[in-house]
Amino acid sequence: MKSSVVILLAAMLPSFAAAQPPIIAGIEKAGAEKVAGAVLMSELACAACHASTQTVFAAKTAPDLSMIGSRAHPAHLQRFIASPSNVKPGTTMPDVLAHLPEKDRNDAAEALMHFLATLGKQAPSALPTAEAIERGKKLYHSVGCVACHSPEKPLPGSVPHGPLAEKYTLASLTAFLQDPLSARPGGRMPDCQLENGEAADIASYLLRDQKTPFTPFQVDAALASRGQKLFVEHRCNACHATGAKTLTPPIIALNKLRAEEGCLSAKKGAWPHYPLSEGQRTALRSALADEAKSFSPAEVAQITLTRLNCITCHVRGEIGGVSTERSDYFSGRDETLGEQTRIPPALTGVGAKLKEKWLREVLVNGASARPYIHTRMPKFGAAQTEHLAALFKQLDLPHSAAFTRVGDDKKPREIGRELAGVKGFNCIACHTFRGRSASPIRALDLTTMAERVEENWFHNFLAHPQKFVPLTVMPGFWPDGKSLLPAILGGNPGMQRDALWQYLAQGPEAREPAGLILEPLVVKVQNEAVIVRRAFPGIGKRGIGIGYPGGINLAFDAELMRLATLWSGDFIEASSLWRGQGSGQARILGKPVVEFPPGPAFAVLATADATWPVLDMTTERSPFSFKGYSLDAQQRPTLKYALPGVEVTDFFMERRDDSGSLYLQRTLTFSSPSPAGFHLRVASGTMIEAQGANTFAVGTNLVIKMSAQAVLRDAGDAKELLLPVRGDLKLEYHLKPASTEGKGRKP
Ligand code: HEC
Ligand code: HEC
Ligand code: HEC
Ligand code: HEC
Ligand code: HEC
Repeated sequence: MKSSVVILLAAMLPSFAAAQPPIIAGIEKAGAEKVAGAVLMSELACAACHASTQTVFAAKTAPDLSMIGSRAHPAHLQRFIASPSNVKPGTTMPDVLAHLPEKDRNDAAEALMHFLATLGKQAPSALPTAEAIERGKKLYHSVGCVACHSPEKPLPGSVPHGPLAEKYTLASLTAFLQDPLSARPGGRMPDCQLENGEAADIASYLLRDQKTPFTPFQVDAALASRGQKLFVEHRCNACHATGAKTLTPPIIALNKLRAEEGCLSAKKGAWPHYPLSEGQRTALRSALADEAKSFSPAEVAQITLTRLNCITCHVRGEIGGVSTERSDYFSGRDETLGEQTRIPPALTGVGAKLKEKWLREVLVNGASARPYIHTRMPKFGAAQTEHLAALFKQLDLPHSAAFTRVGDDKKPREIGRELAGVKGFNCIACHTFRGRSASPIRALDLTTMAERVEENWFHNFLAHPQKFVPLTVMPGFWPDGKSLLPAILGGNPGMQRDALWQYLAQGPEAREPAGLILEPLVVKVQNEAVIVRRAFPGIGKRGIGIGYPGGINLAFDAELMRLATLWSGDFIEASSLWRGQGSGQARILGKPVVEFPPGPAFAVLATADATWPVLDMTTERSPFSFKGYSLDAQQRPTLKYALPGVEVTDFFMERRDDSGSLYLQRTLTFSSPSPAGFHLRVASGTMIEAQGANTFAVGTNLVIKMSAQAVLRDAGDAKELLLPVRGDLKLEYHLKPASTEGKGRKP
């Protein structure tokens, strides 16, 4: 009785002694102590202040505060800064003000809050709705958040969220979840590849306790300017960027520290206070001794996999893997094909399995090949993961494989096709083929194998699938080295596997095997607009296809903010569409198709004859950013994006002209007065002709009318139609209707 009272009291009193130590999720799975020590060093950012030459100690990049004022409510920030680990138990931010007397600490936190509130501006925001909370709850528990964070029923060792409802608005948390890496470039909170509306739903769930909107905050300029000084004085800027360049004086190097003092002691002084556990202190002290040691490539890989918590989802050799407590939150669309259709693939030997180019696609761009797994492979940012591709290749050496090359005279690709089909090994009973399948159960697409996996791994895997994945349902077709199909290629296993490989090496060009269900999956547009975010021809992965009920369709490039394609009639074929990335590209079905020029849609031209800028997207980043869209009652999106200094809304709707023909009306609004020389490029091509006031024929299938005076000018061999932006704009696109009778949709 007595002891339980004491425990209760200890839990209630917010004292430093009782503060929860920083939580580094997954560190207990790290394996070697040397690895765990290095992970702690980087997660707690010791090297942000203490000079260090040990690359694996490099400090985790703390949140970028240059827009913090639009992200978080100032009142919360003040509480958090005054006592980080009390307000967000388990946080990795140390208590920098711990040594100040309480009054000074609160004053400093208040001034810092006023300063931070000047960085960005909070926009008014709605409260979450019950439906969105419900949808968000499901997503939160299935897309992968609970691999690191706690599910609704708390699980110890999870990355804490802190009191989100007092920190974020629905709008600011949605924006954060859509692109966490820009606020937190350290990549520990990865981009989970959320699609349309998913971020808003999850944000609604996380803010389910928010019942009243935030009151607007008034900045006190004098306090803000004091806060700005304190920010440097207390070395906040050693960890946080704010956009301003300031330097902190250097501090004793890690290898010169007295390990019992300062940040590693329980004493308070003019250093950051970390509420470390005894275990963490010991690990950090022993890590200090590793400052000059070298870390092997295997250790470097383990450190990365631990600090980014890859090992909460993946197993690699002896470490990691989905824990039993979290296993229920990993699900798949159809689990009849076993664990592999819900649990992320093992990373054991992944360097020998995947081609380096695909590894990079996965690690840097979050490429996906298993649309049936609900958990998303997150993006951690190239800076965090890029080195792993080469490291995996270096660590996981390929095993030689036994196969016999089948000569061209025997038509190996034809034989491979036969082997893959229903009358052969019937691979398509389980695997999709270019997005199509022979049955409702679907595993990895066969046409992606050659792009992804190494040839010798393919042979080894096919020969003994259970050696790679003990419980796989993927059968062995050559038990005891004997083929189940002795009539083909003399039943020679090595030759049969080679024929399969040569066939699959054709990738998406390979002819369908027999037995596939072949109807194309056409995305139909009926009474409401339909939106499909996907790769489109000529756009790449950030395409947005929109089909309108009257039969006009468009593809928008959400990287360069350009209208990329217009067409009439049927919308798109979706058979090769997969969730997320993959190589699936939408196929445009209708006709005629009008393509608009590649390159940025907007630019500031210094002179009237300055050439339109070109952006090489393989090496440059788009200066524009896409901000999502809202939908009206007919599901028509208003696209939102930001150009440097200007926010734009872009809305398309079908209308009828006086003769009853449908056209597409486009309305562009701009948040602020446009800079001089700011233009929209409307079209380019060899055939553009003026047809009347602000009206131009572009090629033979399109007439564009504009609300303002456009400029038609020569651009090399072609012409360019530019529209100076001086205020909001309206454009009309009159596109020739679908060429085939009956193909156009009825409005
Ligand atoms: C925000 C800057 C900052 C960070 C981050 C930081 N320290 Fe310190 N550390 C200091 C300052 C300031 C002192 C006091 C230096 C002095 O007394 O001259 C100090 C002192 C120390 C000392 C005592 C040195 C001595 O010889 O007296 C140790 C040990 C130490 N830090 C370890 C760490 C470890 C381990 C970490 C990461 C968990 C860390 N520090 C993170 C600023 C920092
Ligand atoms: C691989 C592990 C991992 C996954 C998966 C993950 N997170 Fe995080 N998340 C983190 C870490 C670690 C942090 C703290 C980052 C830091 O220290 O800067 C974080 C921070 C956050 C924060 C910021 C909290 C604050 O105090 O402002 C939110 C909100 C959040 N995560 C939500 C989510 C949601 C929603 C998902 C799923 C869509 C998700 N996370 C998936 C690891 C993860
Ligand atoms: C040792 C590095 C370090 C120092 C020094 C530091 N911070 Fe932090 N700070 C962090 C980390 C890491 C986080 C993320 C913590 C989390 O999400 O749990 C953070 C979070 C924050 C946030 C919330 C950011 C967001 O985007 O949600 C604010 C605001 C902040 N710190 C302000 C400060 C101020 C003010 C100081 C100086 C008094 C300071 N920090 C000193 C590492 C540091
Ligand atoms: C939230 C769970 C989760 C986390 C955390 C995670 N992954 Fe993944 N990963 C997945 C899923 C799911 C897939 C399968 C994606 C697909 O193919 O559609 C995957 C696929 C992969 C693949 C491709 C494997 C193959 O055989 O096709 C690699 C490589 C990979 N992840 C590496 C990593 C690394 C490295 C990290 C940490 C930086 C990491 N993952 C973190 C869930 C996760
Ligand atoms: C009974 C169902 C079934 C049949 C039949 C089948 N597979 Fe599989 N196969 C699977 C499953 C399930 C996986 C694991 C998928 C995953 O990792 O998500 C798999 C995995 C694979 C892989 C490994 C891919 C990777 O990246 O991990 C290859 C290669 C493969 N199969 C090729 C074939 C070929 C070729 C055939 C026909 C000769 C075939 N499979 C027949 C179920 C099947």
